[in-house]
This record gives sequence, structure tokens and C-alpha cells, in this order.
Amino acid sequence: MKKEDILDAYRWRQATKEFDADRKIDEEDFEFILETGRLSPSSFGFEPWQFVVVRREDLLQKIKDHAWGAQGQALTASHFVLILARTPEAMRHDSDYIRHVVMDVQGRTEDEYALRVKRVREFQEQDYRLLDDERVFQEWIKRQTYIPLGNMMTAAAQIGIDSCPIEGFNQADIDELLISEGVMERGAWSLSVMVAFGHRARDFAPKTRRDFNEVVKYIG
Ligand SMILES: Cc1cc2nc3c(=O)[nH]c(=O)nc-3n(C[C@H](O)[C@H](O)[C@H](O)COP(=O)(O)O)c2cc1C
Repeated sequence: MKKEDILDAYRWRQATKEFDADRKIDEEDFEFILETGRLSPSSFGFEPWQFVVVRREDLLQKIKDHAWGAQGQALTASHFVLILARTPEAMRHDSDYIRHVVMDVQGRTEDEYALRVKRVREFQEQDYRLLDDERVFQEWIKRQTYIPLGNMMTAAAQIGIDSCPIEGFNQADIDELLISEGVMERGAWSLSVMVAFGHRARDFAPKTRRDFNEVVKYIG
């Protein structure tokens, strides 16, 4: 893997506002992209996400109707993904889900679980005071989901696939839609961000970024 090739992928990636609807991504390539999301890190390794790949045309149309930021993408993308975040209820230190991850996924013993949960409780109660405010807690959970989002978009760019992250939607409105469409259970999940994949319909204007020295500061 050459550094310059990796940087070229970053330079090439641009938020794709409209895809070429005739060009589909190979399933194997798409699974590679999803796998980079699955392997992403999260706070305490709790993986508070689910990636929902929407294939139903009628649902894509409804998502378009509910998401101002997905107007050109929802119906032209090759693959359209909803990144769901677990709710605070599921992510409390004493929840069944946390127990499941620590015991079944991470393979810890009962004693290790007890120690782990103590640390998580302190983190949630004192360090970040997540239990004081449901909204703050939910946003902390959603923050984790941007790591797989970034990884999937970069991985896609490295194999020549375009993408667009999308958070142009009304939160309450889209959550209601996804609950009523049977995509997620009320109280268990909330939509964090969407991401569309495919091939760009047309070339972009050159990418703009602030200068390196404006972005990076060294101390000492
Ligand atoms: C979290 C996030 C949410 C975004 N939401 C939308 C969106 O709803 N619709 C859209 O067309 N672009 C969306 N964008 C794309 C940004 O506008 C774009 O990434 C930014 O302008 C930089 O341009 P570039 O990605 O082409 O380099 C989003 C980007 C991020 C990171």
C-alpha cells in the first residue's frame, strides 16, 4: 500500500450529490465496504450501531421525501445505507446489550464483566455525565457511528467507489418513518446518519480544503 495512493483516494473522494443510476457496485465490493464499517472501533468496543441496506424502492422514495439532503442520491445510488444508533436505554452500563457484548462478543468472565461495568458506570455517571441528559447520551452514542461512516467512505474511495454522507433530515420525522416502515423498533434505535454508494453521475469541481498549517498546530 503506497502512501501516495491512499492520499489520492482521499483527494478523489467527494460528496456525490447524484449517482449514475445505471452503474451498480459489485456485491463483493459492497461487502468489503460494509466489512470496514463492522471492523471499526467504538468507545469500550460496544459497537452501538447497525447498518441497514435499503433495497426497497418504495422505501427509498419515502426516505427521499423525508430527507432534504438525499434528493439526488436516494434514487440514483447503487447501495443506500442507514446507520442506526442504539438508544440510551440499550447502552446503559447495566443493560442486557452491554452484558451481551462484554460476555458473548468480547469473551470476558463474570468477574471481568463486573469490573468493566463498574468502569462504564463511572464513565457514564461521572466522566461524561451521560445519565443526566438523554439527549447528551444519545449524541454520545451517535458520535461512535461516524467512525464506521468515515471508514466505509474511505474504503470505498480506495477501490474507486463514490459515496455521500447524509444527515440532511428531520430527526423525529425520519425516526417515525423508519419505525412505521418496520425498519427499527421504537425505543431501541434512532437514525444517526445515512450514506449512499455508487458511481458519480458527473465530474466535480476541484476539491477545497483549508491549508495544512491552518488545520494542524504543533505544541512544543
Ligand atoms: C456528517 C455529514 C453530513 C452530510 N450531509 C449531507 C447531506 O445531507 N446531503 C449532501 O448532499 N451532502 C452532505 N454532506 C456532504 C458535505 O457537504 C461534504 O462532505 C462537504 O461539503 C465536503 O465536500 P467533499 O466531501 O466533497 O470533500 C455531509 C457530510 C458530512 C460529513
